[in-house]
Amino acid sequence: MTLSERKHATEYTEEAYLVFEELDTRVTRIFEDVKAWRGWRLISAGNTPKQEIMALVREIFRSVVWYQAHTTEAGFHMFGRLPKKDVRLIQQLSSHKAEEAEHGVWAQEDHAKSGGSATDRSIPPSPATFAVAAVWWRMAQVEEPLGYLGAEYLFEQLTALVTQAALPIIEGRDLPRESLRFVIEHATEDAKHAVFLKHLILDVVTRYPGSGDAMLRCFDYFHAVYPLPVWDEAYERAVGGLG
Ligand SMILES: [Fe+2]
Ligand SMILES: [Fe+2]
Repeated sequence: MTLSERKHATEYTEEAYLVFEELDTRVTRIFEDVKAWRGWRLISAGNTPKQEIMALVREIFRSVVWYQAHTTEAGFHMFGRLPKKDVRLIQQLSSHKAEEAEHGVWAQEDHAKSGGSATDRSIPPSPATFAVAAVWWRMAQVEEPLGYLGAEYLFEQLTALVTQAALPIIEGRDLPRESLRFVIEHATEDAKHAVFLKHLILDVVTRYPGSGDAMLRCFDYFHAVYPLPVWDEAYERAVGGLG
C-alpha cells in the first residue's frame, strides 16, 4: 500500500465526524448536568464533612455493583450480534469489554473498604440500577448492534470526565485513596477508553453509513436511566443513612 493509499484508508467521512461530535456534545452537556446536581455540589463544596462525601461515594459504588455485571453481559451479547465478517471490530470490542469485566469487583471492594456491608450483592437492586440493566439487555436483544458504540461512549467518556474532576477533590480533601481505586484508576483508564471508542465510532460510521442513527438512539436510551437517576438514588440512600 502506498503512502497516499494508506492515508486515504484512514480517512473518515464527514458523516462520521458529525456523529462523533454529536455524541461528544451530548456527553459534555450531561457532565454539566452532573456538576449542577445536588450530589456533586455536596462532594465539591469545600466544607462538606469527609464522612458525608464518602457516604455518597460508597452508595454510588453500591449502585455500580448492582448494574455492572449485567451491563457487561448485555454488552457482550450486543456486539456478539455484529456482522460476523467484521472480525477485527468484534475482537477490539471483546478485548475492551474483557478489561471492563472486573470493574464491578473494584466497586464492590471500594464499597466494602469505605464501610459498606459485605452482603450487598444479596440485596435486590435499586429501581434505577434495575432499569439500567433492563435498558442494556433490551438494547442487546433488539437494537442494531452498532448502536452499542453510542451507549458505550456515554459510559466511558462521562466516567473519564467525572473521575478526572474528582481527583483534585480527593487530593484537596485528603480522602482515603485505598477506598477510591475505582475512581482513581478510571481517571486514566477511561480517558484512554474514550479515545479508543472515538476512533471506533469514526471508523464504523465511515464503513457503515447510517449506523450513527442507532448510536445516537442507544445513547439516549441509556441516558434515560443513567447517570442521574442512579446517582440521585445513591444520594437519597446516603442522606437517609446520615440522618
Ligand atoms: Fe470501567
Ligand atoms: Fe472503561
